[in-house]
Amino acid sequence: MFKLAHISDVHLGPLPAITMRELMSKRITGYVNWQRNRKKHLFGDTLTRLIEHIRAQAPDHLAITGDLVNLAARTEIDKAQMWLENLGDPQEISVVPGNHDAYVPRALSRSLKAWRPFLTADGAPLSETPQFPYLRVRGPVALIGCSTAHATPPFSANGTFGPNQAERTRQLLKEAGERGLFRVVLIHHPPVRGAASNYKRMTGIRRFGKMLREVGAELVLHGHTHLNTVYHLEGRDGPVPVVGIASASQGQGGRKPPAGYNLFSISGEAGNWQLTRERFAMEGDDGAFILAQSDKL
Ligand SMILES: [Fe+2]
Ligand SMILES: [Fe+2]
Repeated sequence: MFKLAHISDVHLGPLPAITMRELMSKRITGYVNWQRNRKKHLFGDTLTRLIEHIRAQAPDHLAITGDLVNLAARTEIDKAQMWLENLGDPQEISVVPGNHDAYVPRALSRSLKAWRPFLTADGAPLSETPQFPYLRVRGPVALIGCSTAHATPPFSANGTFGPNQAERTRQLLKEAGERGLFRVVLIHHPPVRGAASNYKRMTGIRRFGKMLREVGAELVLHGHTHLNTVYHLEGRDGPVPVVGIASASQGQGGRKPPAGYNLFSISGEAGNWQLTRERFAMEGDDGAFILAQSDKL
């Protein structure tokens, strides 16, 4: 039995001091937005308690599907690096970037450099910039990490799954399938039509769907919407569950559901996998994390 935990949209706060120069860019709209909407609900010790709860379950691996920071300012990226280093062994934690990690041009390469050990493919040298998709194999599980993150104009939070990445992802999925591994795709934006509004959606949804129909996968994990959702996409060997999760920092009483995480239990073997999911959420009276949902996927 392999236990895989999934969190997303950490949006580490509070915002550190931002230089005027950093504010002269798309960040000015993000800064105002953040002060208005997020500051209120993305604070407190929610994230710390969420991580403690996950630790107590002793998962074999933790997947984090992006948006570690807010405006991708230098100090935020450094803070996220420290947070990751405190979180645990990079061999047991896999990260893919989100649109907030690539908030303005050049921010993405800075983020990837700082968080490198957590998003580097097996066998790739740590001295190089991480490439996507990456493949990391842990036990019976193949983690295939994609990047949809790039800088976008103000008021836009789009992402892209382009043809080159699709081709390489298809190849990794095919090879991992031939090795009899349980294939998990990590991607920040939901690769599902209608899952995110137009200004937040991913380009390449059709491309992603075609790839799954051709080579299949066992599970897709995403973030970005800050919602607890399960969709299914058609795969080569049957429906593929596509699972989203609330922001790991979301407090109670906001417009979005409170913080939570999914804990997947994977057993069986190729052709006969069993996948169960338990979702824990901060829904207790006193803000405790409780089992909110348990199902077979
Ligand atoms: Fe987010
Ligand atoms: Fe996002």
